[in-house]
Amino acid sequence: MSDWRRTHTCGELRKEHVGQEVVLNGWVHRRRDHGGIFFVDLRDRYGVTQVVLDERLSDSVKFSSEYVLSVRGKVEEREPQNVNPDRPTGEIDVVAESIEVLSAAETPPFEIESDVETAVETRLRYRFVDLRRAPMQKNILHRGRFISALRRAFEAQGFVDVETPVLTKATPEGARDYLVPSRVQPGKFFALPQSPQIFKQILMVSGFDRYYQVARCFRDEDLRADRQPDFTQLDMEMAFVEEEDVWACWERVLVDTFRDAMEVELSTPFPRLRYAEAMERYGSDKPDTRFEMELVDVADWAQRASFQVFHKVLEAGGRVKGITLQGGAALSRKEIDALGTYVGEFGAKGLAWWKAAADGGAGPLARFCEGDLAGELMRAMGASEGDLCLFVADAEKVCHRALGELRVHLGRTRGLIREGWNFLWVTHFPLFERDEETGAWTSSHHPFTAPEDWELRGDPGDLASRAYDLVLNGWEMGSGSVRIHRAEVQQRVFELLGIGPEEQEEKFGFLLEALSYGAPPHGGFAVGLDRMVAMTAGVDNIRDVIAFPKTATATDLMCGAPSTVRPEQLADVHIRLTGRGLAREDEA
Ligand code: AMO
Ligand code: AMP
Repeated sequence: MSDWRRTHTCGELRKEHVGQEVVLNGWVHRRRDHGGIFFVDLRDRYGVTQVVLDERLSDSVKFSSEYVLSVRGKVEEREPQNVNPDRPTGEIDVVAESIEVLSAAETPPFEIESDVETAVETRLRYRFVDLRRAPMQKNILHRGRFISALRRAFEAQGFVDVETPVLTKATPEGARDYLVPSRVQPGKFFALPQSPQIFKQILMVSGFDRYYQVARCFRDEDLRADRQPDFTQLDMEMAFVEEEDVWACWERVLVDTFRDAMEVELSTPFPRLRYAEAMERYGSDKPDTRFEMELVDVADWAQRASFQVFHKVLEAGGRVKGITLQGGAALSRKEIDALGTYVGEFGAKGLAWWKAAADGGAGPLARFCEGDLAGELMRAMGASEGDLCLFVADAEKVCHRALGELRVHLGRTRGLIREGWNFLWVTHFPLFERDEETGAWTSSHHPFTAPEDWELRGDPGDLASRAYDLVLNGWEMGSGSVRIHRAEVQQRVFELLGIGPEEQEEKFGFLLEALSYGAPPHGGFAVGLDRMVAMTAGVDNIRDVIAFPKTATATDLMCGAPSTVRPEQLADVHIRLTGRGLAREDEA
């Protein structure tokens, strides 16, 4: 055969190519036998082209699904009745003159084009085949386009791309570290960065002013649909700024990126909401603002009604709040009970409900709605006849969590969510929160976040921080803060976190030192790129926008990582296995 290399891609040929001799390279997507004449759909990442074979050619080469072929032939126009309007190449065929098999293929473990759900494990085990599927191709290509647009947007604002080390020292972001043993320094370990946080702050001290990086981060934590152990941030930092500057910078970046990568026009500025208000109104620090159904405090009403459960909770300092589902009075008893079970998963002890009506309505709360109390509750809840009001009485944390989750659940299941890109800045997070197990103070963002009050006066639990999150349609997309740029304030925050002078020196001495050599005021932000790409691709698991992701047990099923290593390799890095690790080695 003469040159086998393609002249066109499988997505390229149109009517104007009719009559030309072409060579296509691609995978056998499908083949059909029409009695003496054979059709082969040839696929590459650009599309699918139909190739027509006569009996002679078809008999002369043996191939089946997913073989890689080179096809030389002539472009011919299809009869009008044979045109496929769903395919850009649907007006033509390539009538094959010769075919060469470039590579044979085993029968694939699942069909490339199929609506049948394949088990995730199988997809990940054969990721090279899975990535050929149209939705995966679309996701990965979207990811590339999106990141490239983001880079352009940052470059346009004068940001400098600086790489920071992967073999480094622990950077605390609240997860466990991945450790790498040192061979040349027995008994010492690198940690993989949970984020480039400390390095980007030091870059500000060094005068780089505007830094950004597509940064790989590593966190050994419990995995979920929105978490991988090895993930990517669009990380950035700016010097001589306040929070408004960081927000304005990101708003411009996102406007540019959405226009460039998706032809979507975002409107700015994005709304801002204080953390405390977000919790009050939505029961969440990442509210989905594409629908209403806000939480309403009904403590006043509960005080006057004679429902003992509500009284007790109020006396104990808890909260009584509710949400109103418009038209929800049509729900059956069974459906309402299922909502009660749902809030139970978030710790609520019950879900009181009321089918609103001025005459007292129906449901467990109806008997506490005598006289004016029914009308008052309707007014408080913004409810009309035919609506369903749902209440949780509990400690504030549980009350907010349960109703916040119920709100989102109802929004999704009842189709209340409008289409849109609802970005939102959530601001003024608390500086510290208590670790529920140990009772110790922990940073709600990270220990480098500036407090509202540089003097750190009062109870640590009441201190507000200068941290902010970016939320998109109910998902936390990113976090950031204005940072502490004074060594003595940083030291006091470490102390409040129970990190004594010795530990400070050992873990963060280099940062404290850097801060004492002329640190500009600075602040920054990092967006979880996997999340943002998943959201904009319309998928709900970040695994689907990562070419080679890990499972929920942090395993790469394709290459089989993590794996055991030979004893010599362990000896090299001065490690001896014990207990379960040793048993594993014996297995291997
Ligand atoms: P934070 O820890 O909030 O902040 O991380 C920023 C964003 O990264 C994403 N993210 C993850 N995505 C996938 N898998 C994970 N395991 C995972 N963990 C976090 C989230 C999150 O909002 N250094 C700070 C940022 C700063 O202050 O500038 C930081 O890392 O979308
Ligand atoms: P009871 O009087 O215990 O039968 O409860 C009457 C109604 O109040 C039921 O619908 C319970 O689900 C609900 N309920 C009980 N405890 C709470 C609570 N802490 N918050 C909201 N509703 C509750």
